[in-house]
Amino acid sequence: MRTYLVTGGAGFIGSNYIHYMFKKYDNEIRIINVDVLTYAGNLENLKDIENRENYSFVRADICDAEAIAKVFEENDIDRVVHFAAESHVDRSIKNPEVFVKTNVLGTLVMLNCAKSAWELPDGTFKEGKKFLHVSTDEVYGSLENEDEFFYETTPYAPHSPYSASKASSDMLVRAYMDTYHFPANITNCSNNYGPYQFPEKLIPLIINNALQGKDLPVYGDGKNVRDWLYVADHAKAIDMVQEQGRLFETYNIGGHNEKQNIEIINIIIETLQEMLPEDDERRKLVTTKLIKYVADRKGHDKRYAIAPDKIKAEIGWYPETMFKDGIKLTIKWFFEHEDWMKHVTSGDYQKYYSEMYK
Ligand code: NAD
Ligand code: TYD
Repeated sequence: MRTYLVTGGAGFIGSNYIHYMFKKYDNEIRIINVDVLTYAGNLENLKDIENRENYSFVRADICDAEAIAKVFEENDIDRVVHFAAESHVDRSIKNPEVFVKTNVLGTLVMLNCAKSAWELPDGTFKEGKKFLHVSTDEVYGSLENEDEFFYETTPYAPHSPYSASKASSDMLVRAYMDTYHFPANITNCSNNYGPYQFPEKLIPLIINNALQGKDLPVYGDGKNVRDWLYVADHAKAIDMVQEQGRLFETYNIGGHNEKQNIEIINIIIETLQEMLPEDDERRKLVTTKLIKYVADRKGHDKRYAIAPDKIKAEIGWYPETMFKDGIKLTIKWFFEHEDWMKHVTSGDYQKYYSEMYK
């Protein structure tokens, strides 16, 4: 039975990945989820699988080398899938330090612990061991023109403290592959959306605000473009890269779905109006009148667009979920999980929200 160490499995993409993996492999795999549970980590995301015998949770900080080494000592880990990170650009603008600590130093700890556990006396690595580092398209910087795309060969040009910290962590993984022949892959994906996404990111924030008749904040002119990827498609891509990808390679994962922020907001409003039952009071609240242009994000990247050509050609992965379907699945999930939204938006979230949008 193969054992996976997933870091950041209580976050948005990590929890979707764990669900995907149990659905696909059921009892053929074991997953150990290591997460320190920051504001973004939520064990409620894993409620329905937490009692599985082939799942366990370890509360630990990836910067804590002793705690991470212990997980490797106590378990014969075959695969690492490294999601744990500080992930929100706006927070990185206000407080860059924790991004460097978790994203750079934490990744270094993960690499060192995996290397120690997997390296043989002759400097080669045990058969079949693999490390997958989950990164972002934001490391490539910003595109100006519609005919430009990010390829795996695009030079790194990060702008925000978040993307700079992710770029640094990617460079460390590359250095371990080049220097030690450490068995790893890097994936750089575009903006994800779907179930369990914390409502500080655009799509869940807009859904949550619209349903309460609150302002829908649009940064700048609303014309910044992101390439939206449905999170289950991403989970599938990660698994396919680990199973079929060439070691030491980077794969870009994108949604083929570039849209301006203002288009996304309008689609969400239309879809909510379509999906809310006739007699639901909230129908009256959800209108384009809620759209409110606010001050732009500092250093706001104009456009991200991934060319997922390599992963399609080599591995056969492509984004299966069209945005019009993915957004319905996402809204349906939020309708069915009102309690989840209430829990994550209580306490600290209110404080963050009032400081961010004051
Ligand atoms: P998230 O913020 O929802 O979750 C991050 C998880 O990591 C949380 O559970 C948190 O508790 C945990 N964590 C944070 N610091 C930790 C630490 N020091 N030790 C242990 N655990 C820690 O993030 P996400 O959106 O799920 O993103 C996952 C990964 O994917 C990140 O590496 C991110 O950079 C990358 N990524 C995300 C997106 C996106 O659209 N969300 C796009 C591209 C890449
Ligand atoms: P976000 O979801 O924070 O992801 P990222 O910054 O990693 O791309 O933001 C997506 C886009 O939406 C980005 O261009 C910023 C914009 N945005 C708003 O216009 N209003 C908001 O309230 C938020 C959170 C984001």
